[in-house]
Amino acid sequence: MECKYCSREAIEEINGKAYCKEHFIKYFLGRVRSIIDKFGISGEIAVALSGGKDSAACFHALHSLNFDLQPFYINLHIPGDSEICQKKAEELCSNLGYKLKIIDVEEYGISIANKKKPCSICGTVKRYLMNKFAYEHGYKYVATGHNLSDAVTFALNNLANVNMLNFRGNKPYLEGREEYKMVAKVKPLYWLKDKECMLYVILNEIPFADEECLFAKNAPTIKIKEWVHSIESEQPGIMANMAKSFWKIEEMIERDEKINKCKKCGFASYGSVCKFCKIRKR
Ligand code: AMP
Ligand code: FES
Ligand code: ZN
Ligand code: ZN
Repeated sequence: MECKYCSREAIEEINGKAYCKEHFIKYFLGRVRSIIDKFGISGEIAVALSGGKDSAACFHALHSLNFDLQPFYINLHIPGDSEICQKKAEELCSNLGYKLKIIDVEEYGISIANKKKPCSICGTVKRYLMNKFAYEHGYKYVATGHNLSDAVTFALNNLANVNMLNFRGNKPYLEGREEYKMVAKVKPLYWLKDKECMLYVILNEIPFADEECLFAKNAPTIKIKEWVHSIESEQPGIMANMAKSFWKIEEMIERDEKINKCKKCGFASYGSVCKFCKIRKR
């Protein structure tokens, strides 16, 4: 098969169009650029690196687009995982000429691996520390590696669990709110699927570790993701359309939720004490 844009051999087909290596990378960076431009993002961005392929692709793409970046990694002390992931993140940063900042959860007296529901605690801790790091170092944005596959899977999982009141996180950009010490969050890979992110890291020889959490091997979201990808293979473009719909639905049901300042730490919280401070107390 020939690339749609030149006569070279195609390596990937996206929505019925064939791409060679060079044009695939152009396409990938173009999709990232479209998110950045839509929300007028400029200035320094703190990039959350997990060691996995998605955040590695996100960081590499933003670097290729000449953004001012500060990569950071949260060491969650998950045995058999965190050390390997940190090494991969460090390797990538040194390849691109950056120094990786490390945040250590043990400094907050938190240990995740021995919790009953480690992934749920882990999610809260990561979100909190990402925001805290960026806020305290004066960055306006945090970029994460969430991609299209994650966005659609996450929303469908919420629907599957009748979790409509908590139907958040479907948008590629969340504005910051200074009064709550909330930094803006951006998902530059919002239009790119798992497979495309994987191809991007392979073509660019980017070091990465296995993304899947050891505690989430049998999570129901894995089945939902497989299901969504199989529908996409029969009907290319349906995932992007679903994501657009979920984004619109979220905007429609966005209630002016009462955000408070946490009594203990002063960052944003839905209750009087935020979830992170509750975890620390436990
Ligand atoms: P996850 O919550 O594991 O689905 O990861 C979603 C995104 O959060 C990743 O693409 C990263 O940008 C970020 N992230 C996950 N784990 C870490 C970590 N240990 N340190 C810094 N950022 C992370
Ligand atoms: Fe971190 Fe499962 S423990 S995602
Ligand atoms: Zn081409
Ligand atoms: Zn708090």
